Amino acid sequence: MTTENSAKAPASEQELRDAMVQQLIELGAARSPRVVAAFRTVPRHLAAPDADMTKVYEPEQAAITKTDANGTHISSVSAPRIQATQIEQAAIQEGMRVLEIGSGGVNAAYLAELVGGQGHVVTVDIDPDVTERAKDFLKATGYRNVTVVTADGENGDGAHAPYDRIIVTVQTADIPPAWIDQLAEGGRLVVPLRMRGMTRTVAFVRDSGRLVSDGFELCGFVPMQGAGENRVRLALIHDTEGEEVGLRLDGHPEPDTQALSAALQTPRTTAWSGVTLAGDESSEHLDLWLTTALDNLPLMAAKPAARQRGLVASASPLGVPTLVDGASFAYRTVRPTDDPDRYELGAIGHGPEGQKVAALLVEEIQAWDRDHRDHRARIEVYPARTPDDQLPAGRVIDRPHTRVTISWP
Ligand SMILES: C[S@@+](CC[C@H](N)C(=O)[O-])C[C@H]1O[C@@H](n2cnc3c(N)ncnc32)[C@H](O)[C@@H]1O
Repeated sequence: MTTENSAKAPASEQELRDAMVQQLIELGAARSPRVVAAFRTVPRHLAAPDADMTKVYEPEQAAITKTDANGTHISSVSAPRIQATQIEQAAIQEGMRVLEIGSGGVNAAYLAELVGGQGHVVTVDIDPDVTERAKDFLKATGYRNVTVVTADGENGDGAHAPYDRIIVTVQTADIPPAWIDQLAEGGRLVVPLRMRGMTRTVAFVRDSGRLVSDGFELCGFVPMQGAGENRVRLALIHDTEGEEVGLRLDGHPEPDTQALSAALQTPRTTAWSGVTLAGDESSEHLDLWLTTALDNLPLMAAKPAARQRGLVASASPLGVPTLVDGASFAYRTVRPTDDPDRYELGAIGHGPEGQKVAALLVEEIQAWDRDHRDHRARIEVYPARTPDDQLPAGRVIDRPHTRVTISWP
């Protein structure tokens, strides 16, 4: 019975955990009963004692624990949704040996629950503050089958190798040799791999010296530090404070920012594809096709104010694929259709060749719809010395240690 004076009691820890788990199931992030049980058990709020407890149990909420001098987040307790996604990708079984790169304690505790007393988890972080916090958390929560190591995860942890599973919880542009060497044959490596600006958590299976993808999903992670540090660079094409527009470069050719800046001020041309997406359908597979097919396709990042002022018509925190050709460029956009549940894909062009560049982008949107929409790309990782004729056809991304390929059936 409710009376006028009775205030709603705050949710208990267990109620918060159960509500979080329910949402993770509804989001499709937690699927298997053992993963659900692990997320129902670990008291993750103890890892972020200063944070609002209800927030720590929100599926999409990461708790930022460290920011560098430039304001970039460099450490966090990852959001429950991404932790569950990666753990499902890893398909962990009891008794396994698991290496986690990028620590914090919470994810290691989930892994410890899943491998059980016969298994072992090693969690490595480059930052001693993080490993101290992780040790405290694991001690307080009683997980004894976890070894916490302070080191650059670029080298894995040879002392406890081989591993049945390696889970990387920091964004990387490359796969260092240690991660492949220390992974058992047939083992799974789950890693937030940045490919041409966009990061996807990819589940790879080791097949001799190469890795072959078995599913991937878009995600955001703090960038890797140490020997493997390799960040995207932002080339501004509009630098008015508060409404900056830039191109995120990840191995793309250096753009003529002055010419593109002038182009942005000229009227836009649009081209429409006739290809539609459902309102709840992600464009992630289309974007992967576009980055496979088109050479000079960095991502455009824009401050919300740039969009409000009408400078750009598309914005996304992950960046919008943008085809650059000299002094012209075109970016992917959408418009509503008569069907309230679908929108049409197109391109907005600027500059002297804006119309032509927009038409090229639209052609590839149509090619995806025609030839690839019903398929999933395959991502593979080969050693850097592998000759071209031994790689699958498609896009090749060259990194210091590896050649990453994206191919389509
Ligand atoms: C998103 S946090 C990890 C979250 C954690 N797994 C959890 O329990 O939620 C990423 C971590 O990667 C660490 N890191 C960055 N570069 C690293 C490197 N080269 N080796 C090991 N750790 C690294 C950062 O210090 C940061 O703590």
